Amino acid sequence: MALSRTDALSHLQSAGRYALELEAVSRHFGALVALADINLAVEAGERRAVLGSNGAGKTTLFNAITGDFPPTTGRVRLFGEDVTDLPAHERVRRGLRRTYQISQLFDGLSVVDNIYLACRGVSRGRFSLRRPRRDDSAMASAENLLGAVHLDAVRDTPVANLSYGQQRQLEIALALAGAPRLILFDEPAAGLSPTERTELVEILQSLPEHISYIIIEHDMDVALRVAERVTMMHNGRVFKEGTPAEIEADAEVQELYLGQRDG
Ligand SMILES: Nc1ncnc2c1ncn2[C@@H]1O[C@H](COP(=O)(O)OP(=O)(O)OP(=O)(O)O)[C@@H](O)[C@H]1O
Ligand SMILES: [Mg+2]
Repeated sequence: MALSRTDALSHLQSAGRYALELEAVSRHFGALVALADINLAVEAGERRAVLGSNGAGKTTLFNAITGDFPPTTGRVRLFGEDVTDLPAHERVRRGLRRTYQISQLFDGLSVVDNIYLACRGVSRGRFSLRRPRRDDSAMASAENLLGAVHLDAVRDTPVANLSYGQQRQLEIALALAGAPRLILFDEPAAGLSPTERTELVEILQSLPEHISYIIIEHDMDVALRVAERVTMMHNGRVFKEGTPAEIEADAEVQELYLGQRDG
């Protein structure tokens, strides 16, 4: 693991190898330790699932990575670069995106306008409050993303009239705006019907190969289909890490997971 290496040479090597490295990351909220000594390395192009019961620290982990709530201690490296002290928007500039557990869409706008604005916002590095002039390259990107998230048929529908599943698909499109290299998906399958889940899995599986992602997922079946490796969290710590097959077969995981479903 590159996590313990600190010399300049290994940093150069890790720049190509890892999309994300967390080194001894912790996050406290007053007396509450939401994250404790997290070490995590996600390779460039890797798809990782994060499992764990309510309050395990999964969203807090995302907040530490994005800078929404920076870690109390520890270091965060994106593509080999230490971004621990950089604000969230600087991490976005470096190709980091996220979706939220709770929807962040513009309700009154159509699907394509939401995506178009995201494409423009990212290309300008920020959102503009002035009436935008038409930007053809942003419009072309938006049209592409409509297809990538299976929303061509509802292109001009206002967000407020979309089904819940379609709204979650739209959130994925917004995360794909610009040139993402690492996307953090916070429970995109929560509340979806079985059909919508299947569609979500298809969308995630057909994302461009160079895009790494981490997906928080309670549904083991979804997680195991969209991820190459799984990190299981418990009480703010990494409890287990392995391939989907290893995690599924792990006796301690089963005990924790089944206990959680019964309770
Ligand atoms: N802004 C905050 N202020 C205070 N405590 C917080 C804050 N954010 C999270 N916590 C606490 O940190 C712990 C981890 O929360 P977190 O939201 O990361 O869990 P989670 O694994 O995402 O859970 P869930 O599956 O319910 O989304 C919880 O005890 C939570 O109450
Ligand atoms: Mg959460």
